[in-house]
Amino acid sequence: MSTRTIVVTVTEDLAELVTDRMWQWGVQAVSETAGGNGVVEIATSVGNDVDAIDRALATLDPSWAVVVRDVEDAIAQVPAEFLSPTWYAPGMVSVPAALLPFEPDDPATTVTVIDPGSAFGLGDHPTTRTSMALLAELLRSRDSVDSVDRASGPHDRLLDVGCGTGALAVLGAQLGVPTIRAIDIADAAVAATRRNMELNGVDGSIVVDTTPVADVTGTFDIVMANILAPVLVSMAGDLRRLVRPGGSLVISGILADRHDHVLDALQPLAPVRSLEHDGWVSIILR
Ligand SMILES: C[S@@+](CC[C@H](N)C(=O)[O-])C[C@H]1O[C@@H](n2cnc3c(N)ncnc32)[C@H](O)[C@@H]1O
Repeated sequence: MSTRTIVVTVTEDLAELVTDRMWQWGVQAVSETAGGNGVVEIATSVGNDVDAIDRALATLDPSWAVVVRDVEDAIAQVPAEFLSPTWYAPGMVSVPAALLPFEPDDPATTVTVIDPGSAFGLGDHPTTRTSMALLAELLRSRDSVDSVDRASGPHDRLLDVGCGTGALAVLGAQLGVPTIRAIDIADAAVAATRRNMELNGVDGSIVVDTTPVADVTGTFDIVMANILAPVLVSMAGDLRRLVRPGGSLVISGILADRHDHVLDALQPLAPVRSLEHDGWVSIILR
């Protein structure tokens, strides 16, 4: 098995701009290798889905030197010694499957095991961890007097748009949401989400497929959408339609200092809470 890897070669002064662009694709790693003569080779992967690769390439400047090459999975995969559990909230941790067995000191810990397959996410990306933290907050603090969530009604129906490895949907199942729907454009994401349902003992709790967001019907108490800003803007009408009145839309995949256009597109939904990590932000809108 091999992974399609996008490699951009530019002069050093452009390196930050290129890596920034790649992080916005929601990737889990970007590598930078000096090529001599002031040139750097910057590489990442959005998986093997042809459409996903095309969408990523379309955001690159046509003047940059870009190649897409196959890299053997043995090289593409992050070695276990570079992985670590991600404690994203008190008593809540996501753990790459490569680190199993994992025994937390406190048996009450909520452990979400993530096997990435060829889909996005080990649960450690800033956009995932802050989304997981906000979802946990919504689901766990229903009865708290201080909660932003106190008056927002039931939390029985969850939709995860762009589920990747299913980290958010699986956490929803672990925290007891009875009806969960997850969608992604990538077949690899559907496979990974099914695998992670099994790994976390919530098999059968999530209906996951590649239904386009425009074709999803009904409304949901919570809609999670950790996708890139341009995608959030393009699907803003559907996201608004899919959240029940008074329900919560949690958006992520956006930069902390550059997301006003996303909020504008989602009006009249308005931010009620946000969480930042490493320059990324997740926001609850209602
Ligand atoms: C940043 S990842 C988030 C994955 C996961 N939800 C998480 O939080 O770790 C974004 C995911 O959105 C998917 N995606 C991109 N455009 C999409 C679209 N128009 N509809 C559904 N999924 C999409 C990608 O394939 C990718 O798996």
